[in-house]
Amino acid sequence: MKVRKLLVAGAGQMGAGIAQVSAQAGIEVVMIDVADEFVARGMAAIQKGLGRLVDKGRMQPDERDAALARIATGLSVEDGADADLFIEAAPESVELKSDLLRRASAILRREAVIATNTSSLSITMLAEYVEAPERFVGIHFFNPVPAMALVEVVRGAATSDATMAAARAFAETVGKTPITVKDSPGFVVNRILFPMINEAVAALAEGVASADDIDTGMRLGANFPMGPLALADLVGLDTTQAILATLERDLGDPKYRPHSLLAEHVAAGRLGRKSGAGFYKYDRG
Ligand SMILES: NC(=O)c1ccc[n+]([C@@H]2O[C@H](COP(=O)([O-])OP(=O)(O)OC[C@H]3O[C@@H](n4cnc5c(N)ncnc54)[C@H](O)[C@@H]3O)[C@@H](O)[C@H]2O)c1
Repeated sequence: MKVRKLLVAGAGQMGAGIAQVSAQAGIEVVMIDVADEFVARGMAAIQKGLGRLVDKGRMQPDERDAALARIATGLSVEDGADADLFIEAAPESVELKSDLLRRASAILRREAVIATNTSSLSITMLAEYVEAPERFVGIHFFNPVPAMALVEVVRGAATSDATMAAARAFAETVGKTPITVKDSPGFVVNRILFPMINEAVAALAEGVASADDIDTGMRLGANFPMGPLALADLVGLDTTQAILATLERDLGDPKYRPHSLLAEHVAAGRLGRKSGAGFYKYDRG
């Protein structure tokens, strides 16, 4: 099945990125969110992302305009009822995701693939909310979507081979490299990455070094492109906390418990880049 039209729910960091790379690859996109202001923010992020490519000479202005013209927006899954692929990129909450999956699988064609971009929830568990769960799959992009080459394609207990093949083909169409992963907490990358971020937060809380020095240490000492605390700010501290909490619960091991400093930042609304402050301060302009 070739994806000609994508419906993406959530115009946040991930949803807007998925919409952008899909539109760049020639796919018609409908991007929805719960309010006009969120849709507008997502579109502004896409315009900025494509604008940067034009500025760098990696895209022609007419290609940018064509990509933007492929993106329609809306406030309801009904706005993309004829899509071949639905990807939900709403916040990491079973309540929100189950509602979206129920509504989307009730209105999309039976052949349409239904996917989630969840970072940490079980695909097999979420499949309970999907009519015909053999067409349900995890399509896990990384942040920022336009820059990150990997997609984890996650097979739930009911996912069919055809759905896996369609998801892998879609990932390749939008310029990514897919890896096939079993449905297991954190999949591959986050299971390894987030305990390391949590350890960096612990080192900061214990005064082992400043945030800057911890990040410089990991950049220069482990050859990371960015430090773990800066990465947590990029991911979003709320998302980081949710991923660790899910790893702790689902793997049944307290070693994954989100550090209390992380919880403090989230409670104070310091969510990282998207809120203007986290372990670092950001200019939101
Ligand atoms: N941030 C990351 O680094 C990252 C990486 C990979 C996967 N993910 C996963 O992607 C998903 C989204 O994360 P994000 O970072 O883009 O979050 P975000 O907070 O930036 O964006 C989420 C968007 O979803 C919208 N939303 C809420 N309820 C909705 C609904 N019912 N219908 C449509 N839209 C709705 C919100 O208004 C918001 O604009 C999460 O499941 C997260 O775990 C995140």
